[in-house]
Amino acid sequence: MASLGVEAIWLTPFYASPMRDFGYDISDHCAVDPSFGTLEDFDALVAEAHRTGLRVILDFVPNHTSDQHPWFAESRASRESPRRDWYLWRDGNPPNNWISVFGGPAWTWDEATGQSYYHAYLAEQPDLNWRNPEVREAMFAVLRFWIARGVDGFRVDAMRQVLKDLSLRDNPAVEGWDGPRDVYASLRPEFTTDLDEVQEVVAALRRAIGDERLFMAEVTAPIPRLVRYYGAAGEGAHLPFNFHLIFADWDAAAIAALVEEYEAAVPDGAWPNWVLGNHDQPRVASRVGPRQARAAAMLLLTLRGTPTLYYGDEIGMEDVLVPPERVVDPDGRDPERSPMRWTGEPGAGFTSGEPWLPLGDPAVNVEAQEADPRSILALHRRLIALRGAREDLLTGSYETLQADGVLAYRRGTSTVVALNLTGAPRSAALSGEIVLDTGLARAGERPDRLQLAAGEGVILDA
Ligand code: GLC
Repeated sequence: MASLGVEAIWLTPFYASPMRDFGYDISDHCAVDPSFGTLEDFDALVAEAHRTGLRVILDFVPNHTSDQHPWFAESRASRESPRRDWYLWRDGNPPNNWISVFGGPAWTWDEATGQSYYHAYLAEQPDLNWRNPEVREAMFAVLRFWIARGVDGFRVDAMRQVLKDLSLRDNPAVEGWDGPRDVYASLRPEFTTDLDEVQEVVAALRRAIGDERLFMAEVTAPIPRLVRYYGAAGEGAHLPFNFHLIFADWDAAAIAALVEEYEAAVPDGAWPNWVLGNHDQPRVASRVGPRQARAAAMLLLTLRGTPTLYYGDEIGMEDVLVPPERVVDPDGRDPERSPMRWTGEPGAGFTSGEPWLPLGDPAVNVEAQEADPRSILALHRRLIALRGAREDLLTGSYETLQADGVLAYRRGTSTVVALNLTGAPRSAALSGEIVLDTGLARAGERPDRLQLAAGEGVILDA
């Protein structure tokens, strides 16, 4: 990872967990699940990462715990339990129409105590009550535990979900919805997500995380709502994840419009960020196709702001076909979670045992690409190195130059990026010296008029 040139790694949850939602159902926030190792292994990982200059960012899951967490066991035990109010218990079965992100009612009835509890995700992931000061304090203690072990930041899970409407108003139906009724997308999550009061929790988390560490937040929201998570100066997340590229049409005009809207919306003094893939979404190489995957990498790494790269995307891994008998995720996300392919060998250099998911195409692996100076891995290295060395790409302004099949933009004073996002060759009225191209074969060329093959991209000194 250090040789890739990245400066930080974000680890998805490795805490003690029954693994119903693969670590996002935590039964002990301050323990390492035995399937991953021990706290000593964690300390060694941090020490080694720091030795090689990598910062370590942890996943922090404030919204819910596992139903196996001792807090929930106590909460569930009786209506009089001192921890009853740590979770969201209400009368009624169900108390209202809220639907879980994974489908089906977001309330589960507890026969013994005659109430329902709320869960934004699985029934095995009951939501904590963030209006309760003891819950906040207990969760801030978790942050302090990991801060004391030397971590450099947190990626906060499900940020916009932490508070829900106190009077439990029904979520309104999506107009024109004619699909099944128990699906999350059938309702507008107006009373379960992104309440104005969530900003107050964001500010409290910022105080707990401090300014010496990075605060990234998972926020799926339209741009005007998303940028609110930056908060007022010093009070919000440093980087509310900007997922919009993942959902954008692969089209120059659409992407230019998105970048411009986002650029205009990011508050003064705040820093933008871009994401092309993560463990919840189909892989970029599968979404845009292998031919466009290099242009996608060049886009991610030349836009203004911090890029987040999903492991495996740097070698062009695609979604892996998972046969029905090997499906493990409740939400269909196995294809993008197949293990990293380090080598072409049977365990892919990842395991000598049975991997938790199928491994995918053996030809796509780090070892093979290390030996190929024009591989997509080599391209990522060159892009990351260039970003670090070229002030225009680090801090320069963004300006769209062209958005008609070819997406071209200027960064700073003398850097132009041109990407042919179509499936056919294109030419563009751009000139200058090619500094880097997606095929790693044209550096030094000085075209008068730029010709680009389908899916080709170049960075020009212009
Ligand atoms: C976030 C995670 C996702 C998880 C969910 C519940 O969306 O990225 O993987 O299933 O939260 O914790």
